[in-house]
Amino acid sequence: MKVLILGNGAREHALAWKFSTSRRLCGLFVAPGNAGTASFGTNLPQLDPLDGAAVVTACQTYEIDLVFVGSEAPLEAGVADALQSAGVAVIGPNRHKAQLESSKVFSKDFMIRNGLPTAAAQEFTDEEKYLDYITSVPGRLVIKKSGLAAGKGVLETDDRSEALDFGLEILKNDKLLVEEFLTGFEISVFVLSDGRDYVVLPPTADFKKAQEGDRGPNTGGMGAICPVPLVDALLWKRVLAETVEPTVAALNKDGLNYKGIIFIGVMVTSTGPKILEYNVRFGDPETQALLALIDSDFGDLVQAMADGTLSEYRLVLSTKVALGVVVAAPGYPGDYPKNLVVESLPPSREGQFHLFQASTTLVDGALLTAGGRCFTAVGIADSFEEAKRRAYAGAAQVKFPGAWWRKDIGDKFLH
Ligand code: AMP
Ligand code: GLY
Repeated sequence: MKVLILGNGAREHALAWKFSTSRRLCGLFVAPGNAGTASFGTNLPQLDPLDGAAVVTACQTYEIDLVFVGSEAPLEAGVADALQSAGVAVIGPNRHKAQLESSKVFSKDFMIRNGLPTAAAQEFTDEEKYLDYITSVPGRLVIKKSGLAAGKGVLETDDRSEALDFGLEILKNDKLLVEEFLTGFEISVFVLSDGRDYVVLPPTADFKKAQEGDRGPNTGGMGAICPVPLVDALLWKRVLAETVEPTVAALNKDGLNYKGIIFIGVMVTSTGPKILEYNVRFGDPETQALLALIDSDFGDLVQAMADGTLSEYRLVLSTKVALGVVVAAPGYPGDYPKNLVVESLPPSREGQFHLFQASTTLVDGALLTAGGRCFTAVGIADSFEEAKRRAYAGAAQVKFPGAWWRKDIGDKFLH
């Protein structure tokens, strides 16, 4: 099996590592890839992952059997449609189905239409109606841009003038949703689908806020743990029965299921699990922690997704736990400098510690950063205490100017 991964983040570095451990693999390509993915496969830095025709041509040139799409942008751009038309197996939905993530209006309509548990919401396209609404309802509001916004399209606020400024900016060129504010704790649930049947990976949680104690602005995610200690067998059963099973049934009924990842963002509230959102790909940084706990051959698992044979598939999971810490550039999630020189990195130790790189490049022998979230340091162990110690010891060995990380990843679940 020859695989092409689309993306250049730490999630795609983790996917490249995991694919490289498969006995099925006889070729691995990553487009565009980063300095880390180059040690597991061939980077295709010139290939634009958003250009469906170019991706199809690359698949023909390199005789690629399967394309694994890492992030949402190529899916929204219709890259899966181009690959399906060309007869290349692809993990990820076509453009229409990708609206489950790329349009919050589309996905909320899907949830409401199918009676799935989610926050009550109102949709707006009109400034005046929006203003009337937010000044007439009490309490905390969640304002969401409908389209993709790289983690920056959601505001939670009590302040009506802040809500107004945020909403009016969105209404210039998109629809918006105002949602009921839900309280509880969040988990990320990853469902691997073959278009009909599915397997569910262990519960994972990411830490979205920039600062310790879940304070500060939202980010793409500053760390992750897997599994989530608060999710005991009883709660997990409810999550499966009330969110996963009805979601897959509704996707099948509406003709929206696909070969790929159904990522369900779940808020565990005092009245039970509620669906916050869907994504149509793996999470970042959740994947960096999660993949270390899959003992099954990853190539076999992905092949079963592509072949539509997941109903016969037996997933083998590790009994270990994993904790990942994101090492970020100074200023992130605001403006941050690029091309910072990375002086040193800790080595990976199989089964104990992995360092995954995001958007890094090698220029004249120097390793340079290019993004905001630059690395994910993942500790793996029999206990969270040891996994955390390994992750933080590794993060401290990542040396570049201004490198920083959240100090409390995992803590709210562990104390
Ligand atoms: P979304 O992109 O819809 O997942 O929203 C991003 C983040 O905003 C979520 O991960 C939650 O932390 C928060 N959020 C979204 N919707 C709600 C809600 N209805 N109530 C409380 N928090 C929310
Ligand atoms: N960590 C959340 C996401 O990937 O959307």
